[in-house]
Amino acid sequence: MNAPVISPDTSDLASLDLDEEIRRLKKERNAVILAHYYQEGEVQDLADFIGDSLQLAQQAKKTQADVILFAGVHFMAEVAKILNPERTVLVPDMAAGCSLADGCPADRFRAWKARYENAFTISYINCSAAVKAESDLICTSSNAEKMVASVPADKTILFAPDRNLGKYLIKKTGRDMVLWPGSCLVHETFSLKRVLDLKRKHPEAKVIAHPECEEPVLDESDFIGSTAALLRFVEQDPSETFIVVTESGILHQMKKLAPHKTFLAGPPEEESCSCNECPFMRLNTPEKIYLALRDLSPELHMNEDERLRARAPIERMLELS
Ligand code: 13P
Ligand code: SF4
Repeated sequence: MNAPVISPDTSDLASLDLDEEIRRLKKERNAVILAHYYQEGEVQDLADFIGDSLQLAQQAKKTQADVILFAGVHFMAEVAKILNPERTVLVPDMAAGCSLADGCPADRFRAWKARYENAFTISYINCSAAVKAESDLICTSSNAEKMVASVPADKTILFAPDRNLGKYLIKKTGRDMVLWPGSCLVHETFSLKRVLDLKRKHPEAKVIAHPECEEPVLDESDFIGSTAALLRFVEQDPSETFIVVTESGILHQMKKLAPHKTFLAGPPEEESCSCNECPFMRLNTPEKIYLALRDLSPELHMNEDERLRARAPIERMLELS
């Protein structure tokens, strides 16, 4: 993400049947809508495919559509473009960044890496294409342990940009890793005290969390996993109530998968704020999706040299996954 971007003006669209219009435009454009589980329910319901970041990358790789509309955040759309240079990739709102990606600029990342000669760099997919281009391997939260295990034991691993996921991986794999000091602004907002208060009120509930959460929250969790793993867990586990410590958009699919179960959104530190919603993910709306399909804009473009360099560690990840 470079220059500041202006979100599209959607004030004129009140009279349209957006569902119908989006369906029509999708056909006309031979377009596919890919959405992350953190989107608003109404955006998820417009999608042809909903997934976690690994599933979305895999789906982006195999799509035959001419146009990919990415209802997620910028780095996810970049992965789709890296894998599909010949297709049009639309991002309904180019301001949909990510605190992890934005907190790890490529020049600082390069300087950090240069301090560790011969180290092996694993970057979490939540980073810019420029950082991916400087990395040996990419991982997502659902395959991170496998990616770490694939690195020869004598290699020092540098892990960027999420220190919480990094710490979790050190515990799980026993590998020593040097961590970039980044974090997700949503996942670091969860309050252990308020999670435990909620657990006291619902002692039967299982606490389930995304590995981007801070260590004290993860230590109190019954299950830790990527968004797709959390969904599988609530479907398969016999418990009836879950405290879900991740972005609250995921509750939409949880309620669909297990309508008879109870899902309590993980509580943020501030009672009155909706900090468990990712402000970047939530920039996507049906109105902006309609405009993007109508105008084939905003379209994501990439520098070809950077795209090719970023593609190699992503392909390595997809082969190992
Ligand atoms: P997933 O890999 O679980 O989709 O997580 C993506 C993300 O942005 C979490 O904040
Ligand atoms: Fe980035 Fe956090 Fe939003 Fe995921 S939830 S896109 S890690 S800011």
